[in-house]
Amino acid sequence: MLATAEEIRLDDRVTDFVMKGRKLLIGGRWVDAASGRTFPVYNPATGEVIAHVAEGGKQDIDRAVTAARRAYESGPWPRLTPSERGRLVWKLGDLILEHLEELAELESLDNGKPITVARAADVPLAADLFHYMAGWATKLEGNTIPISVPYARGAQFHAYTVREPVGVVGQIIPWNFPLLMAAWKLGPALATGCTVVLKPAEETPLSALRLGELIQEAGFPEGVVNIVTGFGEPAGAALAAHPGIDKVAFTGSTEVGKLILRAAANDLKKVSLELGGKSPNVVLRDADLDIATKGTASAIFFNHGQCCCAGSRLFVQESIFDKLVGGVADEAKKLKVGPGLDPNTQMGPMVSEIQYNRVWNYIESGLSEGAKAVTGGRQLGGKGYFLEPTVLVDTKPSMKVIREEIFGPVVAAIPFKELDDDLVRAANDSVYGLAAGVWSRDISKAHLLAGKLKAGTVWVNCYNIFDAALPFGGYKQSGWGREMGHDALDLYTQKKAVCAAL
Ligand code: NAI
Ligand code: MG
Repeated sequence: MLATAEEIRLDDRVTDFVMKGRKLLIGGRWVDAASGRTFPVYNPATGEVIAHVAEGGKQDIDRAVTAARRAYESGPWPRLTPSERGRLVWKLGDLILEHLEELAELESLDNGKPITVARAADVPLAADLFHYMAGWATKLEGNTIPISVPYARGAQFHAYTVREPVGVVGQIIPWNFPLLMAAWKLGPALATGCTVVLKPAEETPLSALRLGELIQEAGFPEGVVNIVTGFGEPAGAALAAHPGIDKVAFTGSTEVGKLILRAAANDLKKVSLELGGKSPNVVLRDADLDIATKGTASAIFFNHGQCCCAGSRLFVQESIFDKLVGGVADEAKKLKVGPGLDPNTQMGPMVSEIQYNRVWNYIESGLSEGAKAVTGGRQLGGKGYFLEPTVLVDTKPSMKVIREEIFGPVVAAIPFKELDDDLVRAANDSVYGLAAGVWSRDISKAHLLAGKLKAGTVWVNCYNIFDAALPFGGYKQSGWGREMGHDALDLYTQKKAVCAAL
């Protein structure tokens, strides 16, 4: 039996944190929204209000951008040596590890994800990202470039490039990995010397606000990181359009990604986007069935399917289709669905009522269009936003459940005959191109197929493997740019060529 959400006792530090009204971090101070307004934050396992947070608006974004600009242009931040900057970023990683348990609890409470997952993945990965990026602060090198200049024969030049921070950046993040997404955004921005205005998702603002306190504790100068909680409209939109921002970085829906792009077009600010997905996960008949069954089930059900890279289109070779899909359905049935804070929970609630209804509408639409649920396909009733993990078969390529991102624990299993062009075409038949999976014991086939899949990440005989050193981002409408790895530095630096006549 899993505990009910009411039976779970919170760490005192978490209780204290959520009890106090949370404010905006602007210019090193915690301040109320200019409007004085706040908004409630809900526990998705009960639907009850757990905290109140300042509702930042256009004026607050403006104040935060001014603070970030001041910190970027003057003050101690631009005068720090790369090593000093790197040490601050490293220290933030250390502080996250020191507060691992508290942050994991806060994340689980706010987002609904299993505490075991937050503890093993979200929080340590966030710390790791800062530790990884800290090292780059001292390695942002340019080149010396021998030049020939045909119209200046005999003249001598000393030409070189330097990498400079892009400036003041606006970062807008989603609710599925609240702390980790903050880390993916802040890590490279801080390592490269940018200053930031961060807008967390309205569903899950708490861990970013706690991170703000840790940023202060680490000793970052005031105004280097500003955190404005609030809604997409007006806060996010005001940030994306603000003329005082040099770059905007966004993770979220493709729909809003396009709005960000339009908002940024006015003054051509730099943009990076990490958007939705509808990732194909392909199981060949020679795969290790046991590994592939568990792996493809986890590819969709991890984080309740609320992953941009979720393996939501499961292509299975005909001869093993029934066995593998039956196995995935068994895995789904075994999942313990309950409040994230119960240590036995394997799948928590959807993050919000809106998301719960959204996913439910997709399930209904699939079933009404003729798809069958091998397992799941029902709401779980009671308080909280719980849905059954669902495996659909008998879908058609034109169905909404195949074409659109569901962002919930719903996988469509699709049989295929041979590993041929038809399979590749079907797997790539999506406006998205974030991730893909291949399951096979034949390394040639696996690598050949990996080469043909139009996706920013291809996992072979594994899924959802993330590392601070591995670049992540999308082909097609899944986004622009790569986060993590040294690729992320390109998003936050610009190159200057200096040419001196000697
Ligand atoms: P969303 O894209 O609306 O929200 C993500 C972030 O963007 C939030 O911080 C939100 O406040 C902000 N935002 C919303 N409208 C904005 C605007 N006009 N200008 C600037 N910022 C804005 O995503 P939402 O509504 O929470 O989820 C809808 C769908 O988006 C999901 O079902 C899923 O398909 C997709 N999604 C994808 C994510 C990913 O990791 N790629 C994460 C979250 C959602
Ligand atoms: Mg939205």
